[in-house]
Amino acid sequence: MVQTGPAKDGDAMVTNDYVTKPPVLPGIDENSVVLIAGGSGAIGSHCAAALSKMGARVAITGRSQDRVKECVQSVTRGGEVVGLVADVSSSAQVNSAVEFVAEKWGRVDGLVNLAAIGDSGRHLEEVEDSEIAAVLNTNLVGAMYLARACASVMKQRTKGSIVNVSSIGGHRVTPHRITYGPAKAALEHLSRQLSVDLGRYGIRVNTMSPGQTPSNLRRFNESPGLPPITSDPEGNPTPPKRIPLGRRGFFEDYVGPILFLLSDLASYVTGVNIWVDGGASVVR
Ligand SMILES: NC(=O)c1ccc[n+]([C@@H]2O[C@H](COP(=O)([O-])OP(=O)(O)OC[C@H]3O[C@@H](n4cnc5c(N)ncnc54)[C@H](OP(=O)(O)O)[C@@H]3O)[C@@H](O)[C@H]2O)c1
Repeated sequence: MVQTGPAKDGDAMVTNDYVTKPPVLPGIDENSVVLIAGGSGAIGSHCAAALSKMGARVAITGRSQDRVKECVQSVTRGGEVVGLVADVSSSAQVNSAVEFVAEKWGRVDGLVNLAAIGDSGRHLEEVEDSEIAAVLNTNLVGAMYLARACASVMKQRTKGSIVNVSSIGGHRVTPHRITYGPAKAALEHLSRQLSVDLGRYGIRVNTMSPGQTPSNLRRFNESPGLPPITSDPEGNPTPPKRIPLGRRGFFEDYVGPILFLLSDLASYVTGVNIWVDGGASVVR
């Protein structure tokens, strides 16, 4: 499940490896509890492995029981990792998952919202209600449910960090991405909104926007039980020659900024978006 090394179309040079050599970061240690929604996916499993290696206790979620189970086995590096099958588009399932974590470990320090699905790329007139509901409920509403449930636990310690994972698609428009892009744009605004509303409780809320790394992101109508089909969540990938750093991202590249936002190094950082795209977003 945890893949290291170059991604498809990526350059062979790996410049960091947070999975095998995690940093020591203030505020992330064996007492920490981090919930990673979508933790059974590509970016999430790399995060979970790094956090476990740092000694933190980690809960990962996803819809496919097999995938969650396989991921728990492959990412456990020290700190305990538990896998929970929960659909983020169900507030009842989200509440149960967060209750389980809070009862088991007595706290929640960090929440990483990665759970997402892709859209159909259909023209507006052809987009079905079911796609609108599925993509918005997973990519946006799910993050609201998770933030609501986790914030009530974080408030007890007057401390917490929520990282919402958006996308270049939430900023730049690719034709006919009717549901994915707007959901990601709204997710980033949710971070800003919550940074204002939760700041007084010591809870920071930020966004990380990855570049483009082919993963198994499922489309809205694909069952989580299907064999993975590697696809590019953004469609039309930026060619490496148009990326200032000259290569597409590795999954490891996204871990460091997420760890930073979770840690006390970012104790005065809230309401921001961090681009992690090799500079692709600044190129005209
Ligand atoms: N890879 C990239 O280049 C890239 C670029 C920009 C943004 N992103 C964003 O980064 C995040 C992670 O992407 P990834 O590349 O790691 O994709 P991934 O491997 O497909 O991971 C997605 C995760 O979300 C879970 N998930 C999907 N729908 C869910 C639901 N309704 N309830 C609970 N869990 C659900 C999936 O598990 P199940 O299918 O088993 O539920 C999986 O664990 C996403 O938010 C994506 O939009 C990725």
